[in-house]
Amino acid sequence: MIDEYLKNFVSSLDVNPTLKKAAIYTLTLPGKRLRPKLLLASAKDFGVKEEEALKGAVAIEMMHAASLIHDDLPAIDDDDYRRGKASNHVVFGENFAILAGDFLFARALDLCNEMGNPKVSKAFSATLLQLIDGEARDVSLENKEASVEEILTMYKKKTGELFAFAFSFGPRMTGKEVEKYEKSGYNFGISFQILDDILDLTSTFEEIGKTPHKDEKQHKSTLIQKMGLEDSKKYADTLYEEILENIKDSPNLLREVRKVKESLAGRL
Ligand code: IPE
Ligand code: IPE
Ligand code: MG
Ligand code: MG
Ligand code: MG
Repeated sequence: MIDEYLKNFVSSLDVNPTLKKAAIYTLTLPGKRLRPKLLLASAKDFGVKEEEALKGAVAIEMMHAASLIHDDLPAIDDDDYRRGKASNHVVFGENFAILAGDFLFARALDLCNEMGNPKVSKAFSATLLQLIDGEARDVSLENKEASVEEILTMYKKKTGELFAFAFSFGPRMTGKEVEKYEKSGYNFGISFQILDDILDLTSTFEEIGKTPHKDEKQHKSTLIQKMGLEDSKKYADTLYEEILENIKDSPNLLREVRKVKESLAGRL
């Protein structure tokens, strides 16, 4: 359902055909669709109607896909593979990859605005702003001796922001307990990024669908460098336990969070 909507929402605009093709390319590659699934679960727990929540789900996946297209660019992480296939800029060129990312960011905001909830729209544009700041911090911390605090702030922004929006979607639509769920989303993002960094070190291309050992090649600052692999994993597990406790009143969200963690744990 999400995939169908994603495609239609891009195709329905009268814009340059290569731009459209490039945007649809990364959007429809087989990603895990974690953020929309978590957002829909949060919506269900708070009684938000599915047809309404679907716009939020599609918007968050669009914003995520745009961030991936830009993240892979030669000027950022320089990764030729994404979701098991050639990265956007490898297929369409850097020019169209930059524009496809811009297009998807803008289209994601459009779709969120269609829900007609100013608080949700405001939170979604704040999410994008913080995500970009997170990516900027990630670039700034390359080749640097970063502190644990600087790394965690960067993770919270580049990865935590989208998860915080997903976790707090139901609460925000209904005006309840936004902060509590947002905090769990940030922590989930930090723990997810730690696991992504571990997988970067320990997995094959076939397992992750992107180039392994990329963080070392790009001289990235990661928590693993500061704490080692085992302690980083322990920290991610501690955050995860806290999250489960904090979202225990949201059965659907809880189930989705458990599913993500179990599928990741099976790959570590
Ligand atoms: C990749 O996210 C980017 C990170 C925040 C580490 P995902 O691992 O959710 O990527 P897809 O959507 O499944 O491709
Ligand atoms: C998260 O970091 C990416 C974004 C927030 C866009 P990474 O650079 O580690 O993500 P991957 O490993 O390329 O998916
Ligand atoms: Mg990156
Ligand atoms: Mg990257
Ligand atoms: Mg990574």
